[in-house]
Amino acid sequence: MTGKILIVDDEKDMLALLKRIISEETDHELVTEANPFRALELFKESPFDLVITDLKMPRMDGIKLLGDIKRIRPEVSVIILTAYATIETAVEAIQKGAYDYITKPFRRERILLTIDKVMKWQEMVKENLALRQALAEKGDVSPLIGTTQVMKEIFDRISQVAPTTATVLITGASGTGKELVARAIHQNSLRRSKKLVTVNCTAIPEQVIESELFGHVKGAFTGAWRDKKGLVEVAHEGTLFLDEIGDLSQGMQTKLLRLLQEGEYKAVGSVVTKHADLRFITATNHNLKSEIQEKRFREDLYYRINVIHIDLPPLKERKQDIPILSYNFLKKYAGIYQKNIQDISSSALQGLVSQEFSGNVRELENIIERGVIFCKTNTLELKDLFLDKEQAGFYPDLDQVASHLSFKEAKDRMIRLFHEQYIRSLLAQSKGNISKAAEIAGIQRQYLHRLMKEAGIDAADFRKRDDEVTAC
Ligand SMILES: Nc1ncnc2c1ncn2[C@@H]1O[C@H](COP(=O)(O)OP(=O)(O)OP(=O)(O)O)[C@@H](O)[C@H]1O
Ligand SMILES: [Mg+2]
Repeated sequence: MTGKILIVDDEKDMLALLKRIISEETDHELVTEANPFRALELFKESPFDLVITDLKMPRMDGIKLLGDIKRIRPEVSVIILTAYATIETAVEAIQKGAYDYITKPFRRERILLTIDKVMKWQEMVKENLALRQALAEKGDVSPLIGTTQVMKEIFDRISQVAPTTATVLITGASGTGKELVARAIHQNSLRRSKKLVTVNCTAIPEQVIESELFGHVKGAFTGAWRDKKGLVEVAHEGTLFLDEIGDLSQGMQTKLLRLLQEGEYKAVGSVVTKHADLRFITATNHNLKSEIQEKRFREDLYYRINVIHIDLPPLKERKQDIPILSYNFLKKYAGIYQKNIQDISSSALQGLVSQEFSGNVRELENIIERGVIFCKTNTLELKDLFLDKEQAGFYPDLDQVASHLSFKEAKDRMIRLFHEQYIRSLLAQSKGNISKAAEIAGIQRQYLHRLMKEAGIDAADFRKRDDEVTAC
């Protein structure tokens, strides 16, 4: 992006030097001004993207100028130049909304790199503003959100494959949106008036998955009092979404292959072959190719399910989507918690963009939900987000979270928040060791794993922190 930059410094030599460096290497439009009062007037008249200002200037210092700029147009980025690189000034500048500060004398690359980063940030802010407007005008917020090239390609792929009956394999780490993609495919398919049946292959115990999927006949096993329809039959003429397919046992993989190849299956305890007309979508966060090499996943089944492949990248590889996702989650949770929060401060957005997000979009969603609960004004601030996981004391009160919800909704939300808080303290105790954490809690490791996934928690975060402590 080519932007417009205002440079303010009382030293004319410095102005000339900056102008030369920037104009030699970039196409940005530059305006220089030695008097900060006049600079502020220029700023009011023209749409600048970036202001680079010296800190120490007679009559008006850079911090004061920064404050005025942020009051007039908070979305404009400001870089402070300082010969006095004290930590206090830097902290003050960042707290007041500066994008960054640079100490003099500076290297040419440092200034050019920072400008480049600002322009990318500005481009993202503008794109997101435009998108928010477009979404508001459309009045309908599609469930899958993303503006990055990679997500646009995924949306295109979804619209191309949805109307067909091709089998789709969706891969990606936990919380990247696999289930949402499966729904989008079904909703845009010719089968949308029929059912989408989701089967979570991890959650259903191995002993019962066959009867859950294929049904059983009376007397097939102890406790089978009457015939029971399987999910395959429920999904007939619709879509069957097999989530976490990498967790299916070998025996079930074989039966599934038959269903995929011939459209045939048998209820448990029955000799009658049944037929099903299904569209299959499967998802996994395992690497199926290495599972095949280790003989845990059938290669023939893999080729059957992998006709169309959609791979969702982790959120850290599409950080430009963080603002638009955040705004949508803000809208959702402000509605749920009945709070009048309309905006997210730029420092909060910057804080979010710099997160690692091992739990991907789900983790971002959880952070925004928590932020909405704690926010006391009409703008979500950095402090509301509790981005530093050390500050784990965020367990909210019942009246903050749930007093206006129905009993069931309130109970579900409190349970979810309890899970998150409890698991974090467990993992902190076990230093990220999941087996040990499960032992402390007296629950199955697999169950803990599932709860961690739902809460968007990655055990590695707790291991890393321990290394840092040891390293000190
Ligand atoms: N592109 C997106 N736009 C809007 N919301 C999203 C997007 N991707 C994910 N989400 C939200 O993030 C959460 C997690 O998404 P989802 O359950 O689809 O992830 P997943 O990949 O199936 O995770 P897991 O492997 O843990 O089951 C959901 O609340 C979903 O609505
Ligand atoms: Mg899922």
